[in-house]
Amino acid sequence: MNLHIIILAAGKGTRMRSQLPKVLHQLAGKPLLAHVIETAATLNPHSISVVYGDGKAKVLELLHHYSSTVTAIEQAEQLGTGHAVMQAIPTIPNDARVLILYGDVPLISTQLLQEFILTTPPFALGVLTVELDNPSGFGRIIRDQNYQVCAICEQKDATAEQLKIKEINTGILLGRAELFKKQLPRLSKKNAQNEYYLTDIIGMLHAEHVPVQALLTKNNEEVLGINDRAQLAHLERHYQLQQARQLMLNGVTLADPARFDIRGKVNIASDVFIDINVILEGKVTIESHSTIGQNCSIKNCSIGKNVTIRANCVIEEATIEDNCIVGPFARVRPGSQLAEGAHVGNFVEVKNTVIGPHSKANHLTYLGDTVIGKNVNVGAGTITCNYDGVNKYQTIIKDGAFIGSNTALVAPITVGANATIGAGSTLVSNAPENKLTLCRAQQVTIEDWERPKKKS
Ligand code: UD1
Ligand code: CA
Repeated sequence: MNLHIIILAAGKGTRMRSQLPKVLHQLAGKPLLAHVIETAATLNPHSISVVYGDGKAKVLELLHHYSSTVTAIEQAEQLGTGHAVMQAIPTIPNDARVLILYGDVPLISTQLLQEFILTTPPFALGVLTVELDNPSGFGRIIRDQNYQVCAICEQKDATAEQLKIKEINTGILLGRAELFKKQLPRLSKKNAQNEYYLTDIIGMLHAEHVPVQALLTKNNEEVLGINDRAQLAHLERHYQLQQARQLMLNGVTLADPARFDIRGKVNIASDVFIDINVILEGKVTIESHSTIGQNCSIKNCSIGKNVTIRANCVIEEATIEDNCIVGPFARVRPGSQLAEGAHVGNFVEVKNTVIGPHSKANHLTYLGDTVIGKNVNVGAGTITCNYDGVNKYQTIIKDGAFIGSNTALVAPITVGANATIGAGSTLVSNAPENKLTLCRAQQVTIEDWERPKKKS
């Protein structure tokens, strides 16, 4: 089928009261418009056109990421939804089917759109509708005695009688390009908002006996548009709960599905436990029997089996292999890899560092640009001094080494296998393997020393 999609995204979004164009506000960490573009792409259409206008430069920046799938079309002046479609329609062949989506209706699903496309006869105009308890603000679906859709009446133009109608226009339409090409130039601005209403074509088509068919969906949240931040928050929670429910059905335990957020794509195995206030961002994989403690933020990470992440950890762009223990209060920064059975404890920061199998850094430590072998013990208060103010240098700690507490390792430096470093050392050169190396002032005791006495 020759399907072309037009996404309307030029409107002002006044009710968001924001510098940012409405369609760039985020839901689940992704711009509203990006949700719609990605769903549109799943239908494998011939083309996707996005009509932009308000906040032009910023919207174009987003569209640039989708330049291989999306054609950006400017609507210089926002003269209404009908005018917006008119900007995109000329290049679409007459016999193609055109699906109109809205950049501020982010949760529309592939399944519903597929149903809409399948149930709309090829020569009819399809309108996706929904019944709302509070239809205020939306265009009302007007039906004739035969229950046929004969017009859409906007809120501001409706009579008291029409305002009682609960079936509303979601804005999503489907029809052959030639229908739009014929009717759009006939639109007028003689209405309460002085705009070219796309919705006026329904009455015009009905008058010409072109069938208009409504698909009434029950999936309210899928078709709800966002006009203000309260509606944005409502759809965010709805979306998060849906994702949480899906995970629970897949065997993940969530301490509270209402206090859990995914802002990206996750792959979580069964028998994983996730405590409250956990945020997963970007691409996150968690394998079976792992546990994530409360208040953890995990971004672009791969976490193995049987891993324990304790409370209050911030972990980003890291790989954590099976049986590791992390936290509480650990910060694992990009480029870090914790091999099988490694431990990173409280108030430990790890950056661009490999910690080998069964090695431990359990307390108050900074490890940056470091490669640690297996079975290494890094004592409390150890710092790798990886930065001289200009350049970064590497620290290498080989298998079985033991770093005493409060050691400063001035990089570049290598600590040999099974070396022991005395507590409190500041090492500026390599420590040989199998030996004790320390660097500290001799301890002295002054035998005849007395505490000073208060002068009278
Ligand atoms: C529109 C419909 C209404 C429907 C509602 C559903 C019309 C006249 N009304 O009303 O029947 O119930 O959506 O949410 O179509 N846009 C442009 N260019 C413009 C004007 C709007 O691209 O000149 C875009 C907006 O960015 C938005 C969409 O079109 O994505 C809808 O515009 P909006 O002003 O929100 O229309 P509503 O008044 O909500
Ligand atoms: Ca709207």
